[in-house]
Amino acid sequence: MEIKNSSAPLGAEITGLDLAQPVDDATFQTIENLFHERGVIVFRGQNLTEEEQIRFSRRFGDLEIHVATQCLRPGYPEILVVSNILEGGKPIGLADAGQYWHSDLSYLRNPSRCSLLLAREVPEAGGRVLGETLFASAAYAYDTLDPDLRAKLQPLVAVHGYSYRYQLQNAAGLRGALSQDQLKTVPDVRHPVLCRHPITGRNVLFVNEGFTHSLEGVAPEEAQPLLQQLFDHITRPEALYEHHWRVGDLLMWDNWLVQHRAIRNYELPLRRLMHRTTVAGVLKQ
Ligand code: SIN
Repeated sequence: MEIKNSSAPLGAEITGLDLAQPVDDATFQTIENLFHERGVIVFRGQNLTEEEQIRFSRRFGDLEIHVATQCLRPGYPEILVVSNILEGGKPIGLADAGQYWHSDLSYLRNPSRCSLLLAREVPEAGGRVLGETLFASAAYAYDTLDPDLRAKLQPLVAVHGYSYRYQLQNAAGLRGALSQDQLKTVPDVRHPVLCRHPITGRNVLFVNEGFTHSLEGVAPEEAQPLLQQLFDHITRPEALYEHHWRVGDLLMWDNWLVQHRAIRNYELPLRRLMHRTTVAGVLKQ
């Protein structure tokens, strides 16, 4: 197994490891330590079945079943299909997943520990693979905050919500409305703006454009510009890792440590098919 860090403050690549085979404890520990340090890891060349992706993902914890049940892989509810492919005129998965900066499941009281996305088909045009995914480090964002701003943020609590984002995304009606029962599973939740990573204790700036819609007890006219300032700070170009996909990449990211955004620069007939597993959160800090 070979490890190469990216030149950004986050991200690493692992080659020479076949995740279809059982991973021994010592190797797993190396992966986990690297993951806690770099926030994003790509394992190249993984030709995994659904069962193998689920088995490796479970090494990190229990798996979430996504609220958008219409986008789950038939027979494998642990796998969320992220794809622009239509079958019989209908989307086979979330066609517009994550095209805004976000941290998966930050709208849960106990946000997801990590997500693992396996590239099964990637869109390619003119010798270039499209559909990149950008990552930004929330730890680097915390570390580089102006000290006065950090002190101001210390007591603040942010409100995160899934239905807020779902409605924005569904303006064109492509996703179908969430049922009342689905909505009940995702009420708004509150997280401190400055959090500690629940496993490593590392400080992070935990607000994201996708799901953070307000600050508790702060008037919208004050909260919105402040939130925008934080979103811009987190996603400054020097804080980014840009992932260029290859078929067989299994990319995993820590949802406390990083945020991400999918770039939609392709359309059918160029196809993109990804399978995502999402690991449940560990107990809150
Ligand atoms: C996601 O946010 O889970 C999807 C990211 C991607 O499709 O690149």
